[in-house]
Amino acid sequence: MGNRFDFKGRTVVVIGGTSGINRGIALAFARAGAQVAVASRSQDKVDDTVTELARAGAAQAMGLAFDVRQAQAVADGLAAFHSEMGDFDVLVSGAAGNFPALMAEMSVNAFRTVVEIDLMGTVHVMKGAYPFLRRPGASIISVSAPQAFLPYEGQAHVCAAKAGVDMITRTLALEWAPEGIRINSVVPGYIADTEGARRLAPTEQALDMVQRTIPQGRLGAVGDVAGLCLFLASDLAGYVNGQVISADGGLYQRGSGQLGQMIGNALRAGKG
Ligand code: HXC
Ligand code: NAP
Repeated sequence: MGNRFDFKGRTVVVIGGTSGINRGIALAFARAGAQVAVASRSQDKVDDTVTELARAGAAQAMGLAFDVRQAQAVADGLAAFHSEMGDFDVLVSGAAGNFPALMAEMSVNAFRTVVEIDLMGTVHVMKGAYPFLRRPGASIISVSAPQAFLPYEGQAHVCAAKAGVDMITRTLALEWAPEGIRINSVVPGYIADTEGARRLAPTEQALDMVQRTIPQGRLGAVGDVAGLCLFLASDLAGYVNGQVISADGGLYQRGSGQLGQMIGNALRAGKG
C-alpha cells in the first residue's frame, strides 16, 4: 500500500488560507506535495503564505487577494486558480469573521457582516468552484465551528451563520454526490494561538477555564485540524460524505458550558 496521504499531483484550494487554522491546513497539504492555492483579503498575508507554502514543499503555490463577500471576485479568482493548476481535488472553505456581541447591543449591519462572510461567502465559494471540481474525486471541506450546533451567549450571528454553513454541507452532499464529489464540515475545537480563540477568551483566566474544561486536558493545535482535513481529502475517507466532524479533544460533548456563559457575562459587565 502506498502512502495514502501523498497529495503529489493534486490541486488544493484553501479559501481564507492565509492565517491561523486554515493556513495550517494549506501548509499540511503543501508538505504532502500538493499544488496549493490560497486566498484572503490581505495581499501581504497572501504573499507571505505563498512563500511559506513553497518552502514547505508545495509542488506549486499561488495566491490571490479577494473578499468572499464579492461573488464575482470569488468566481474570477477561482477561475484563475483553475487555469494555472487544473481541476480542484480539494477545496477548503474557511474564511470567517467573529466578534463577541450581544444581540441587543449589536447593529443589524454587524450581524449581517458575519452572515455575509461566513454563510454567503461559503455560497460564493461553492458556486464559484463548482465548474472546476474534479469529477469524480473532489473532496470539499467547510470549516465550521461548534456555534453551528451549540448556542453561545454573544454569538448569535456566528451561530446562525455557521449553522447555515453546515446545512449547505449536508445538502450539497446529496446534490453533488452523483457527480463523484464529497463534502464534509470540520469543526475545530479551541485551537491555541489563533485569532478566533483570542477573540472569545482574551484573558489568561478565560483561557485557563477553557483548558480545564477540555476532556483531553490541552488546547487544540492547528495540526489537529489539518490532520482531519488530510484524512477527509484522502481515499481512506472515500465513503465519508455530508458529515460534520469535530477535532476538539472531546470539549463539545460538554456543550457550550462555561465558555458561552463567560462571554455573555463579560459583555454584560463591560456594558455596566
Ligand atoms: C460589535 C462590531 C464589532 C464588535 C465590528 N462590529 N466589530 N459590533 N462588536 N466587536 C460591527 C461594526 O460596527 C459594523 O457595524 C459591522 O460590524 C462591520 O464592521 P467592519 O469593521 O466595517 O467590518 P469589516 O471591516 O468587513 O471586518 C469584518 C469583521 C472583522 C468580522 C468585523 O473583525 C474581521 O475582518 N474579522 C476577520 C478575522 C476573524 O474574525 N477571525 C476569527 C474567526 S474565528 P456598523 O453598524 O457600525 O456599520 C471564528 C469562530 C471561532 O469564526 C470559534 C472559537 C471557538
Ligand atoms: P483567522 O486566523 O482570522 O483566519 C481567518 C481567515 O479568513 C484569514 O485568512 C482571513 O484573512 C480570511 N478572511 C476573513 N474574512 C475574509 C473575507 N471577507 N474574505 C476573504 N477572506 C477572509 O481565524 P482562525 O481562528 O484561524 O479561524 C479559521 C477558521 O476556523 C474559521 O472558519 C473559524 O470560524 C474556524 N474556527 C476557529 C476556531 C478557533 O479556535 N480559532 C474554533 C472553531 C472554528 P484576511 O484577513 O486577509 O482576509
